[in-house]
Amino acid sequence: MPPKVVFPDTADTVAKPATNGKTKHHKPKQDHRALAHRLRGQRESLPIFTARNAIIQQVRQHPTVIVVGETGSGKTTQIPQYLLESGFGTTAITQPRRVAATSIAKRVAEEVGTPLGGRVGYTIRFEDCSSDKTQLRFCTDGLLLREILSDPLLRRYEVVILDEAHERTLRTDILLGMLKDIQRERKRVAELNQQVPDAYFEEEEEVSYRDHRSHGTHVTFDEPEEEPMQPEAVPSVIDNVHGDVTGIGELKIIVMSATLDAERFSAYFDSAPILYVAGRQFPVTTYYTTTPQADYLDAAHLTALQIHTETPSTSGDILVFLSGQEDIESVEKLLRDSAASFPPGVPALLPCPIFAALPQSQQSQVFDPAPEFTRKIILATNIAETSLTIPGIRHVVDSGVHKVRGFDPRVGESLLVEPISKSSARQRTGRAGREAAGFCYRLYTESDYAQLAEDSIPEIKRCQLSMVVLQLKAAGVTDVMQFDFMDRPSKKALKHALLELYALDALDDRGELTALGRWMSEFPLEPSYSKVIYASQKAGCTREAIDIVSLLSVDSLFYVPADKREESNAAQAVFRSTEGDHLTFLNLLRAYNKVNGDREWCQEHFVNRRNMKHVLDVRLQLNRLCARLELDTERSCGTDLDAVLKCFLSGFFHNCALLQPDGTYRSLNGSQAVHVHPGSSMFAKKTPAIFYDQLVFTNKLHARAVSAVDPMWIAQASPKLYGRLNTTA
Ligand code: CDP
Ligand code: MG
Repeated sequence: MPPKVVFPDTADTVAKPATNGKTKHHKPKQDHRALAHRLRGQRESLPIFTARNAIIQQVRQHPTVIVVGETGSGKTTQIPQYLLESGFGTTAITQPRRVAATSIAKRVAEEVGTPLGGRVGYTIRFEDCSSDKTQLRFCTDGLLLREILSDPLLRRYEVVILDEAHERTLRTDILLGMLKDIQRERKRVAELNQQVPDAYFEEEEEVSYRDHRSHGTHVTFDEPEEEPMQPEAVPSVIDNVHGDVTGIGELKIIVMSATLDAERFSAYFDSAPILYVAGRQFPVTTYYTTTPQADYLDAAHLTALQIHTETPSTSGDILVFLSGQEDIESVEKLLRDSAASFPPGVPALLPCPIFAALPQSQQSQVFDPAPEFTRKIILATNIAETSLTIPGIRHVVDSGVHKVRGFDPRVGESLLVEPISKSSARQRTGRAGREAAGFCYRLYTESDYAQLAEDSIPEIKRCQLSMVVLQLKAAGVTDVMQFDFMDRPSKKALKHALLELYALDALDDRGELTALGRWMSEFPLEPSYSKVIYASQKAGCTREAIDIVSLLSVDSLFYVPADKREESNAAQAVFRSTEGDHLTFLNLLRAYNKVNGDREWCQEHFVNRRNMKHVLDVRLQLNRLCARLELDTERSCGTDLDAVLKCFLSGFFHNCALLQPDGTYRSLNGSQAVHVHPGSSMFAKKTPAIFYDQLVFTNKLHARAVSAVDPMWIAQASPKLYGRLNTTA
């Protein structure tokens, strides 16, 4: 029996009977209006309701308004509706995560009483559920950034709401700067327009609007350039709007945040007013562990079980914060295994995962009430910290970690599990006290808590910038060093991004966007991947390149249960390629397609079916995008798979490592030690050179998705960087 996780006094305190904190949730029905009518009472009882008129008034009076309100006060679901009811035009509401955008859009459509995709819709990468009737469009921040490329003044929107701004994701930060610029420019144009009689432009306005709207339910990307590969002049933001500027009014911006430090946003937007919405928070009793936990997954599993068995299931559901999908799936499995051997009398438990890449079909169970005599244990990433409010939670288990993207020029981009900030810890705790008094179990000691940083560092200060720099360039920002960042990334990081884009041939030696760079900016992918796809045309392996890029879009393709390591290893041996993971994954996809994703087959081979479905989705969308860009997506290299690896190198030459005489690998660009991930087919194999998709931190820095390459290929892949490199040394 594994040791119990010890919190001082938990059993006594927690065992007190508590009231049922569950809110009834309605399933969407065809009768939209009746449902909306029923939800009206709930809407009006939200804390934000009393601030409705004040908010509308401020938005009318000021170009930018900052709204601060406790999670669950109703910012995201209500403010867009208030705007709609008050006659504002089309509004975009950005979310840092896909799942939040889709699930909130669904809820708001229910409250408004319209089918999703009508007046209320969403658009996320690879999925568009909106139409030309859509007035409230929920989207990811990345999606809105992309929209600026085709609609530089975002003219289809009267209002843009930047939600969850406190998270300071990379894309939110870039959007802040772009929106500020667009707002200024629209003000100028609107003032010009006021001097011209409206009727003069009426017809044209119609046309220009129609051009920018999406139709139906497929992805909206830019129309392909006539000749996508031809060089062309790069327009600046200002240049773009010279032609037709009719009907452009001012842009209203609303910045919403769940934490109190909103002065920075206000200062950034010329002293914009800050509106504070009172929250509703019940007391939460917080416990720390008495000793540090060696394995937070185990601790999370045991703590959830303890709560479940020691408190009545009517005392509310449990929300467990973990770092990512892999963590969530391990704990989900541990819980299911434990539940299978519950003695009679213990109520059932229902683990409900929620993370960014969870397919839509599986999201709703998180919000639906559990069946009778069953308790939901929600396993979430920090998505449940502030962006989603899940009803019925009374117990929170906080692992104290989250996953962050990091970047080190010597080794490349990494995905690391790191301690959260105090501010995050407080938000997590708050989730337990939304509907009644609750309990929070921190899986770390009180002195560890005291060591945590006050706030997380904005992502823009710590991650790789090549994708956003490419997007800025494509949006006409010629001098990214001078861009009005709210928090300026280091010069070094910006230079590194510029250099990488130059090495990828996306920028020329004057730092200007090349035709290839513009083409790459069409892809909602890191530039390395779009470069691979580009290279695959010439090499005649576009089908394989798209397949592998799609396969790399998920965290893990296989399950490797700790107790069945040998068995799963043996089952997966059939896919294994001697050249490494990229081709192994390709073999897996081919085999999966042959059996049509059969459930039993996936179980037998320990294949993560949920993720494979996501892969197929991404592949479909990439194929559509490539077809629009007039790429031949059927071009296949058959069995000459070296061609595919060479294509990958043309995007990943910065993620290479060479074998050293002592048997270790050292990164090419920084001579940093690189360890092959134990889950890789290249683990324990020695080959002169490898390249990898990314680095993750488990107990040391591990390269994941690793393939063997000929060192000469590396030099050929990027003559700009390694042209004179002596790879035989
Ligand atoms: O954005 P903020 O955190 O301020 O709150 P919100 O997301 O607008 O949520 C307001 C309320 O709507 C929450 O307290 C939930 O009770 C409810 N809600 C819900 O019941 N189901 C959803 N899918 C979303 C929100
Ligand atoms: Mg919200």
